[in-house]
Amino acid sequence: MRINTFEEYEIAYKKSVEDPEGFWGEVAQKFEWKKPWTKVLDWNFEEPNVKWFVGGKMNITENLLDRHVRERPNQPAIVWEPNDKDDESVTLTYKVLHERVSRFANVLKSHGVEKGDRICIYMPMIPELAIAVLACARIGAIHSVVFGGFSAKSIADRVNDANCKMVITTDGAYRGKKKLPMKETVDDALIGCPMVEKVIVATRTRTPISMIKGRDYWWEEEVKKVSADCPATEMDSEDPLFILYTSGSTGKPKGVVHTCGGYMVYTTYTFTNVFQYNPGDVYFCTADIGWITGHSYIIYGPLAAGATSVLFEGVPTYPDAGRFWDIVERHKVNIFYTAPTAIRSLMGFGKEFWENKDLSSLKVLGSVGEPINEEAWHWYNENIGKGNCTICDSWWQTETGGIMISPLANITPTKPTFATLPLPGIQPELVDENGEVIEGNGVNGNLVIKFPWPSIIRTTWGDHDRCKQVYFSTYPNRYFTGDGCMRDEDGYYRITGRVDDVINVSGHRIGTAEVEDALNSHTGVIESAVVGYPHEIKGQGIFAYIIMESLLHDEDLTKRDILATVTRIIGPIAKPDEILFVSGLPKTRSGKIMRRILRKVAEGDTSNLGDISTLLDPSVVDEIVEKVSLK
Ligand code: PRX
Repeated sequence: MRINTFEEYEIAYKKSVEDPEGFWGEVAQKFEWKKPWTKVLDWNFEEPNVKWFVGGKMNITENLLDRHVRERPNQPAIVWEPNDKDDESVTLTYKVLHERVSRFANVLKSHGVEKGDRICIYMPMIPELAIAVLACARIGAIHSVVFGGFSAKSIADRVNDANCKMVITTDGAYRGKKKLPMKETVDDALIGCPMVEKVIVATRTRTPISMIKGRDYWWEEEVKKVSADCPATEMDSEDPLFILYTSGSTGKPKGVVHTCGGYMVYTTYTFTNVFQYNPGDVYFCTADIGWITGHSYIIYGPLAAGATSVLFEGVPTYPDAGRFWDIVERHKVNIFYTAPTAIRSLMGFGKEFWENKDLSSLKVLGSVGEPINEEAWHWYNENIGKGNCTICDSWWQTETGGIMISPLANITPTKPTFATLPLPGIQPELVDENGEVIEGNGVNGNLVIKFPWPSIIRTTWGDHDRCKQVYFSTYPNRYFTGDGCMRDEDGYYRITGRVDDVINVSGHRIGTAEVEDALNSHTGVIESAVVGYPHEIKGQGIFAYIIMESLLHDEDLTKRDILATVTRIIGPIAKPDEILFVSGLPKTRSGKIMRRILRKVAEGDTSNLGDISTLLDPSVVDEIVEKVSLK
């Protein structure tokens, strides 16, 4: 399973393409199965229908916990670093984590949760979040973690879509200097969610909250009532493990479904190989568990590999911009995984925040979520890695479950801004608009994958046809990533960004349609169009063009109201960075908004807007250009 040299990578890659079943069958042997599979892979991309380790029975938590409790009970599994630097960090060994997960799994059972039930988890980055996730997995309940920054409405939409019967939350959350409500937000959400029978509340801030008799229960009291012994429920390899909602170019966020067996095998395999994890290494991923990176590379991959995973509650700039590096120093972190947006924001602060910190424990530096620009790559390499660490620019997606294209640390020769080469099992192709495969090197195209890997998306919850339409119909028999990509002369891959209407803001995926829906629900808004534009820190910012009926208040106040509406409907991450009030939008005669023009204007490039003669009313473009120049 472990690749140690570039030559071994080449051998593994070749085998994975020539004999995928043999290859993954061998990798999967390393895990504990209650019953072996009868067939490694069954698939077609038409329906799509992908099944890995068919007929195999297992429970992922036995592989994450029980196995390690036998072999390394006292090794730290999770090291929790609280928001406040002066607060003590908390270590949960594999033995303790196993006990807490089992106990909480029994709490879930005692409240009527059964295999296959959906549970919404809305929590800050505290150990109870990881415990709640694993407790669901222990008894076969399907977790749907909702990022703690989402609004009540976003929670309600997700709870309704998955028909969740329980929500697990906290009273409040600490984020830097701020104290934020959690239970209160859940309470607002639940007004529209009659199917939720129970809410379990863990204490964090001890903020006063309402507790409704018969529905709301304190975590700390419930765990006292149950035993710490909870046998793991037998799961089929293809039983759903979790749902995670993500944005697409159209409509509401969709619930990406991952299943137990393949996801376990792939996240562990990639964690071990990409980061070249060695027993005893301390690993710190700065993502939030509310996103796929946190699922796959804070919880599942690292714990399955028996690693020590650092869980950080706070933000990179609190109490100051040296916080990540303090954590690296304090816990002697060997492998560090973050997003380019964090790197760019920290680069802007003075040397004093990193120069005198002991970062000598670092061996591997990962990057994920968005393209990493040259400047950030070099800064990361020189100032944090001191030129001694591999920068693993890892490309993947919520739908892929695990890392797809990335260097293997200290093995694959790197090149700034390149995700380099596909991992074993991954068969990327570049295609043109007509779906023709672009062969050779030194080419650009849309990135597709032509063969399944174990953690590929299985379906979108409650709407299989949507999964088919979005990912498997644009290019028949191919999984379409939605990303543009170049393959250079050496065959190295560089992701150039989304080719659809998805904006990547600070590594978070936001659909333009979602933001437009939120904007359009603001009183007086007639129509809006949202595009992404390059943003120095966030990678991309959100630019909104809005047609208003009339302005009741002054422009600034109205903009602030609009931002409040978006925050209320989606959450602060979807707030536009720029708003421009216009009297019309550039539309074709068939009524389609020409986003190309809006993107150019938002980028500040108004010199060459291309052909606008097909527009219904080309004069709107003049107005927009003029307004932008006056800003
Ligand atoms: O556009 C790609 C970008 O993030 C998208 C996936 O977002 P999400 O599902 O939220 O998952 C993010 C974390 C895995 C992709 O379609 N992306 C992700 N990693 C990279 C990237 N773009 C360039 N380089 C990367 N390393």
